[in-house]
Amino acid sequence: MRLIHRPRRNRGSAAVRTLVAETIPDRKKLIMPHFLVEGEGVREEIPSMPGISRVSVDLLLGELESDLSLGIHSILLFGIPAHKDAVGSGAYDPRGIIQRGVREIKKRFPEILCITDVCLCEYTDHGHCGVVSEKGVQNDPSMDLIAKTALSHAEAGADIVAPSDMMDGRVEAIRRVLDDGGFSDLPIMSYAAKYASAFYGPFREAAGSAPRFGDRKSYQMDFRNAREALREVALDIEEGADIVMVKPALSYLDIISRVRDEVLLPLCAYNVSGEYSMVKLMGERGFANEQALVTEILTSIFRAGADMIISYHTRDVFRQELL
Ligand code: PBG
Repeated sequence: MRLIHRPRRNRGSAAVRTLVAETIPDRKKLIMPHFLVEGEGVREEIPSMPGISRVSVDLLLGELESDLSLGIHSILLFGIPAHKDAVGSGAYDPRGIIQRGVREIKKRFPEILCITDVCLCEYTDHGHCGVVSEKGVQNDPSMDLIAKTALSHAEAGADIVAPSDMMDGRVEAIRRVLDDGGFSDLPIMSYAAKYASAFYGPFREAAGSAPRFGDRKSYQMDFRNAREALREVALDIEEGADIVMVKPALSYLDIISRVRDEVLLPLCAYNVSGEYSMVKLMGERGFANEQALVTEILTSIFRAGADMIISYHTRDVFRQELL
């Protein structure tokens, strides 16, 4: 049979496959999230996220030392405070869990890049990402508290602040308080296109941040929309974002790809808790090869156009050289 086109010729050996590979993922572009809790010597496994724990700062320092020797340089920090209230005071308390954690981490490991998640939902007793009135989650008062939180993270030594609340105008508000506070060089990574997603389920158990009433649909995006993501991203760029994010990743590869085509800024994708736990459970049950799933999923997120990925698989990727 005479066939001119035989695409299989370029797949004949591992060597040729590598030469023609279009996506060469780099594990140094992964960011490992951590959940910090108050106290000392605390390590609580998170049932909904096999392999991930909530840890106190002293124990995290030990983990970071071994992670650093593996080559993990970038982390994202979430705080789980001992006390929650209606206005999320713990989020902007100079002695709060994140502020204390960042100070200790940067003192011990200045070379670790500390990104802090800036939000109120872990700190409010109602679990919403902002201040609540009878009319719902209030945008402008929440934005001011979010900005105050970002500034307190900066003062503690954060390298990048990452607002995940989805209030309108918060990137500009953060940029202003950071500049006024002497942090004009500190980058903002904005969760620009963050969808209201069922894939956050395991995280909310981990962080105790599920809303007590209602849902997050009045501030996080509707997953039926793609053009709206471009608008959200454009607004955050106008407001001064330095890195934009699409979240979640796996059901949103089209969004990652479209944002990549439209914007010049670096693009981050968040491979969220539900995406992680799905893979872990399939692996545990023997339904698929966990390592192969991780490599395929992370590579596909890079292929879609992400420059960097936040992933709970990061430690496994470094330990087992999955990328
Ligand atoms: C806080 C926040 C959430 C996540 C990151 N920051 C939860 C939410 O919006 O409900 C989700 C992360 C994950 O699922 O891994 N606003």
